[in-house]
Amino acid sequence: MHELGDFPPGTVWLVGAGPGDPELLTRKAERLIGAADAVFHDALVGPGVLDFASPSARLVYVGKRSGRHSRDQASIDRLIVEAALAGCRVVRLKGGDPAIFGRATEELEACRAMGVPVRICPGVTAASAAAADLGLSLTLRGAARRLTLVTAHVRAGEALKLDWLALADPRATLAIYMGKAAASEVASELMNAGLAGDTPVALVENASLPGSRRFLTRLDLLPLAARTALGRGPAVILVGASLRGSKSGLPDDGDDSAQCRTIAPRSAPDSGAKPWSAAAARTNSREF
Ligand SMILES: C[S@@+](CC[C@H](N)C(=O)[O-])C[C@H]1O[C@@H](n2cnc3c(N)ncnc32)[C@H](O)[C@@H]1O
Repeated sequence: MHELGDFPPGTVWLVGAGPGDPELLTRKAERLIGAADAVFHDALVGPGVLDFASPSARLVYVGKRSGRHSRDQASIDRLIVEAALAGCRVVRLKGGDPAIFGRATEELEACRAMGVPVRICPGVTAASAAAADLGLSLTLRGAARRLTLVTAHVRAGEALKLDWLALADPRATLAIYMGKAAASEVASELMNAGLAGDTPVALVENASLPGSRRFLTRLDLLPLAARTALGRGPAVILVGASLRGSKSGLPDDGDDSAQCRTIAPRSAPDSGAKPWSAAAARTNSREF
């Protein structure tokens, strides 16, 4: 049994809950969740993860999904700090990795400002889980030397201002978080900045969870794919040559990770207009 020397009363851990599958929690995350007196958790914390909490722990939902916020960030910061100052062992449980698009800085600063010791336990981020579901690598030797994580989320009424020229790098993989609503803008901006319309794109919804859905398409069809194929679950959009896979293509059809649908142009000739490998095109493909 761990001594909990790293989790005395009155301290806070920002813990990565991973993408949803409880088996993707780190052992450290499981231990911290089990030791917490209070767990403040997000909307994207997968079912099953909270089962590791002690029956006596106070579980507080502080989720925020697409504008439907249960609490604003300042209230969340205050709740965590108050619980720690009251002598609780506090876990702030966040989907994926707490330090990736997770408002971790605000929570770290709020704790430090009040003298509350706070630490981070990393988690598996959505892009990694999406690549695993696809059976693909996010980098590809010689073809994708850089991985960029970017959010396409903007506040209501704000324009999406990104450095499109830098993002439209054909030798990089782009992982776009919170990109469903802006898919059309993302595709046109990347193409205007020079990225080819047939650049491979994957959309993965509910990565790592039993209801995971995966689609392979191309950049010029991203708006259609995001509009027609995705449901209401969280989704990550991957863009780049690494999605073509290795020379041997995607995994065999018998492998669960190959269960993707391809979204291709009606007239996609075999001349190379399809961005994905022949193996991918074999899998349960369908034309729009
Ligand atoms: C506020 S961000 C949090 C990201 C999280 N900290 C991480 O490292 O994965 C929420 C976005 O992450 C992505 N996301 C989180 N969980 C996901 C999942 N299981 N499958 C696909 N995308 C996911 C979606 O783009 C979602 O809109």
